[in-house]
Amino acid sequence: MRQVSDHCRLVKYFLMSATSLFIGAMHGMLQVFPPIRSWLDSIGSPYGGPGHMIDPLAHAHMNLVGGVVSLAMGTTYYLLPRLTGKTLYSQRLVQHNFWWLFFGVYGFYSAQMIFGIWEGNLMLHDRTAMAHVHHFYGPVVAVAGTSMAVGFIIYFVNIVLTMTGPSGTCTKEE
Ligand code: HEM
Repeated sequence: MRQVSDHCRLVKYFLMSATSLFIGAMHGMLQVFPPIRSWLDSIGSPYGGPGHMIDPLAHAHMNLVGGVVSLAMGTTYYLLPRLTGKTLYSQRLVQHNFWWLFFGVYGFYSAQMIFGIWEGNLMLHDRTAMAHVHHFYGPVVAVAGTSMAVGFIIYFVNIVLTMTGPSGTCTKEE
């Protein structure tokens, strides 16, 4: 069976970053189109209500977590061993980190967009149904948010255990 090298496994962090920045930027462009902007304003964006879920929450997290954080994590995993001479504590954690973050951020974005559009339409046409639908928003976002947070925790643990592991080339012999 063909083996995939450790640094080739990091490519998915960069693919996720490029895809997320693309989605986040298209989202940003669409939300300044006047008809979409006035619809978002009418459902509470950016201060509260369903509009707040679409702008800024969905937009911010796709760009910042999906785009910037995945780029930062992939780059750190590539550079840290080269700068310190240390071996990464765990390649399995690198993989776990990616998938928890990936499902977390895309789940979070999907939840914000689906509930934002759904509740936004109900807010304008049927406020009683909106309150009913909103009961499901909390648990769904909590699951997606926790998945994102697990990604961040794994990242932090892997970096700390790498840095506290066997010494690398950053320390000088006297
Ligand atoms: C475990 C990861 C994360 C979770 C679960 C999470 C969740 C949330 C939630 C629920 C809010 C809404 C607060 C409100 O309703 O006012 C929020 C706001 C925000 N988050 Fe995150 N977040 C996470 C990580 C991040 C990271 C890493 C960044 C940036 C790099 C970020 C950027 C923002 C920004 C800019 C806002 C403010 C949006 C506004 O203006 O209302 N988040 N986040």
